[in-house]
Amino acid sequence: MSSLYKKHLLSIDDLGIAEIDTILTRAKDIQEYPKNYRLDNILLASCFFEPSTRTRLSFETACIRLGGKVIGFGEKNTTSIQKGESLADTVRIIGDMADIIILRHPSAGSSLWASKNTSTPIINAGDGANQHPTQTLLDLFTIKQTHHTLENLSIAIVGDLYYGRTVHSLVSALAHYQPRLYFVSPPSLSIPETITQKLKQKGVKFSYHTDLWSILPKCSIVYMTRLQKERMQQTQQVPYTLTKKMLSVLQPHCKILHPMPRNDEIDPSIDSSTHAWYFVQSKNGILVRQAILSLILQKEYTCLAVPC
Ligand code: CP
Repeated sequence: MSSLYKKHLLSIDDLGIAEIDTILTRAKDIQEYPKNYRLDNILLASCFFEPSTRTRLSFETACIRLGGKVIGFGEKNTTSIQKGESLADTVRIIGDMADIIILRHPSAGSSLWASKNTSTPIINAGDGANQHPTQTLLDLFTIKQTHHTLENLSIAIVGDLYYGRTVHSLVSALAHYQPRLYFVSPPSLSIPETITQKLKQKGVKFSYHTDLWSILPKCSIVYMTRLQKERMQQTQQVPYTLTKKMLSVLQPHCKILHPMPRNDEIDPSIDSSTHAWYFVQSKNGILVRQAILSLILQKEYTCLAVPC
């Protein structure tokens, strides 16, 4: 039985290296042997209190591809939260209906709070500026797919590193794999110290930069992010835009990732480049979310793929 069986997935810090490996290997197995995995009669509750395209629809697609069914909502105005019901009561009620709850909410810590009010597994699909663990798992799957390892890679993380929850989860996970990290952001959007403390504890080398050009030639992965305008008091200019001209300084094997949605961080003229991997990354979300659902909801399994 998987150690993830019937567990919540609230933070990437809930997972050790072995569990991350299990999820990535399961995703590869589902890619190769999709018919081996079925979640017939499973009901997934897709509860999104914030906008989403990828996370919500890829979880729903993942569930349906596995044979399960989906209930849910895409905005809080259609729920009784609008009539004053608490998140705790909402989650308790939905937990009595569904086998698993996918929760996105604007408040940091909301998934943890929700998990205290139901024994039905909760998957954090983004809680404020805190965490987005399933995005990180698909990011790791994509990095491993392109570089065949997660160890000792040079990675630039670019953009809004202060409010970006995908960055917070990804950097915490990468700390397992001894990367060299280059944080590229305006000083006002620097990565929080709570995250860099973890890097220091694990002896991970990292540095802060404001200039993107000078960092690009050093990297195997360039991870672009958008401004999290919805969490800012004042609007800011998009600090970095990756242009076609900049591709000339990249190493041939370097891949550009972005959790999406993008605003102006990546010029669309780059999309056809061999460096551009963000649409593949986004598509990998379905496989990785199938893997997560099957490990949390399926008691027994036989993995046929060699570890990825
Ligand atoms: N990456 C991501 O979370 O995208 P959505 O906001 O569209 O779900």
